[in-house]
Amino acid sequence: MTTRFRAAVWGANGMAGGEVLRILAAHPSVGVSCAVSRSRSGQPVWHAHPHLRSAFPELVFSAPEEALEREADVAFLALPHGTAQPLIKVYLDRGGKVADLSADVRLRSASDYRRWYGAPPLHPELLERAVYGLPELHREALRGASLASGVGCNASCSILGLYPLARAGLVGEARIEVRVGSSEAGAAPTVGSHHPYRSRTLRVYEAFRHRHLAEILQELDLSEDRVTLTMTAVEMIRGVQMIAQVSLSRSVREAELWKLYRAAYADEPFVSLCPARPSHLRLPDPKLLTGSNRVLTGFSLHEDGRRLIVVCALDNLMKGAAGSAVQSANLMLGLPEGEGLGMLPVYPA
Ligand SMILES: NC(=O)c1ccc[n+]([C@@H]2O[C@H](COP(=O)([O-])OP(=O)(O)OC[C@H]3O[C@@H](n4cnc5c(N)ncnc54)[C@H](OP(=O)(O)O)[C@@H]3O)[C@@H](O)[C@H]2O)c1
Repeated sequence: MTTRFRAAVWGANGMAGGEVLRILAAHPSVGVSCAVSRSRSGQPVWHAHPHLRSAFPELVFSAPEEALEREADVAFLALPHGTAQPLIKVYLDRGGKVADLSADVRLRSASDYRRWYGAPPLHPELLERAVYGLPELHREALRGASLASGVGCNASCSILGLYPLARAGLVGEARIEVRVGSSEAGAAPTVGSHHPYRSRTLRVYEAFRHRHLAEILQELDLSEDRVTLTMTAVEMIRGVQMIAQVSLSRSVREAELWKLYRAAYADEPFVSLCPARPSHLRLPDPKLLTGSNRVLTGFSLHEDGRRLIVVCALDNLMKGAAGSAVQSANLMLGLPEGEGLGMLPVYPA
């Protein structure tokens, strides 16, 4: 018999919250008990998300105080950084599960948190309790957890691309360049994200100091002197593409790399390796993944056996945010990990 769980979705009128709603609309075991918005409470959810009208014809946004009176087995918190920790505490104290999407509990160490986010965490004990919400690395821990952290979309893409190499001790140095679409910046326009400024852009930003670097170092167990990160805002709405130029710690043959990547991902439901041929599909384009929870990764080794280019791609709103949150919530709730996440990419998009 299917168990029906109730979910509270906070930040539900935003980009990532809307994507959680889209996934839950077709989830067989988790329904939406409330969709929370301060600015739109009382309005139909489909006014903010017209594409969800047929799934939620009657659902209206709840105000925060109203939402706190509703029962929820799991809370998805798609809120801005710095605002999630008090709510995480409320839901955990009630015995619920929390899948956060923000950066509030991604880092394990309070001193790292202070360094990268410029202020101490409000509830440092939550950092210890949280499991980083990437099932590919933390599946077993998530099964027994009550709190899954959010994942940075750029961080997830970089981590998944480099994980097979890092765990084999092969990363000598990695110079990472991440290309990102505009939906990464959320629904509210800023000088960096408002359409006239953002459209047709090729804007490089946050060299050396993007906050997602902290997650990449933490999850790959690499030191900062071996990894550099730059970001480029490009002409996409959804999508992240990570290109890493890796100096390997020793010379390898291509067959060894295939073995490492297959060992890491052969059984992963959402990660696929790019094929060796045809050549135009050997390195992934995020366009192939739009709207899905899938990840594609591929590589190209220089004939010297020491220089490697790794490319990884995903949809930032799905595997980079809402998809990983639902995948983590499924594990925490004891459901099949992929439930509700079987949607194929839309292509061409
Ligand atoms: N966009 C992505 O690709 C992506 C990827 C990975 C992770 N994330 C993370 O997911 C979270 C949400 O991102 P987003 O892109 O969906 O942002 P967004 O579109 O700006 O949505 C955030 C929502 O949170 C609500 N909110 C704003 N300030 C609040 C506050 N002080 N207290 C409570 N609610 C507040 C807002 O709705 P009301 O004002 O109506 O309440 C807003 O709609 C962020 O932490 C982000 O880092 C996003």
